[in-house]
Amino acid sequence: MNWDKKDLLGIKELSKEEILLILDTAESFKDISKREVKKVPTLRGKTVITLFYEPSTRTRISFEIAAKRLSADTINISASTSSYVKGETLKDTAKNLESMKPDVIIIRHSMPGAPHMLAKTIYSSVINGGDGAHEHPTQALLDLFTMRQKKGKIDGLKIAIIGDIAHSRVARSNIFALKHFNTEIICSGPPTMMPPYLESLGVKVEYNIDRAVSNADVIMMLRIQKERGGISYIPSIKEYSTMYGLKKEHLTKAKEDVIIMHPGPMNRGIEIMDEVADGPYSVILDQVENGVAVRMAVLYLLLGREM
Ligand code: CP
Repeated sequence: MNWDKKDLLGIKELSKEEILLILDTAESFKDISKREVKKVPTLRGKTVITLFYEPSTRTRISFEIAAKRLSADTINISASTSSYVKGETLKDTAKNLESMKPDVIIIRHSMPGAPHMLAKTIYSSVINGGDGAHEHPTQALLDLFTMRQKKGKIDGLKIAIIGDIAHSRVARSNIFALKHFNTEIICSGPPTMMPPYLESLGVKVEYNIDRAVSNADVIMMLRIQKERGGISYIPSIKEYSTMYGLKKEHLTKAKEDVIIMHPGPMNRGIEIMDEVADGPYSVILDQVENGVAVRMAVLYLLLGREM
């Protein structure tokens, strides 16, 4: 199939075929990062802007590396060093950036729907690098890529997602993506962190972590989204960590070859203990590595449509 979308705004807008096209394209880009010269000329002459209104280590850097490995020019803008601090609106910032003819703007913003607004405003492609608690599409794509890489398939997997589901764009995007496949999804965490939309999507809710991870192929841990008020939904960090922090003993209940995932940043000792984060079942750094290939694929598909 051919890619025909201008933007990547959310997983909800993608078909199963489009998700598989991105994952398969990412496979073909993975080896480039292992070469001595990690660069191909595919996007030479293209300009990629990252416009981040929220902090990021993985997403921003891996988009920049992905663009550079495809020979695109990259410009990084963060809110604190932009005219946002002088009161410029997002729309004005976008129109001004558009005047300089970038090919794609990757935006992260605390406001759900900010990338969608941008996509309607400008002709350049827009990629959602995370919008509030709404969506984080490239995170879900790299998560599925990692599941497929480690398990050889996505269909048939039992996936436990544990933590602050209500405020997590990673959980939402993963659930939208995994629903295209024949997967069993179980969410676990305090009742106050379980959003009402889960039931309508056919996602099971299990408040007991031991039962949630039982027989799981994949355990995906999420941090408490303090920046979205997550902390006010629990009695105390200590209590949360005791009840929902992933410890070595939980893994004995899961499948023998379970993989442990976390989108980062991790809050060690709260939602995940060192023994698990750094243990043999952890694929957390593989997720980060795969993020580069997946973002190369997304940039290639969006910008390649006009080449
Ligand atoms: N997973 C993720 O979005 O990490 P960053 O916030 O560091 O980009």
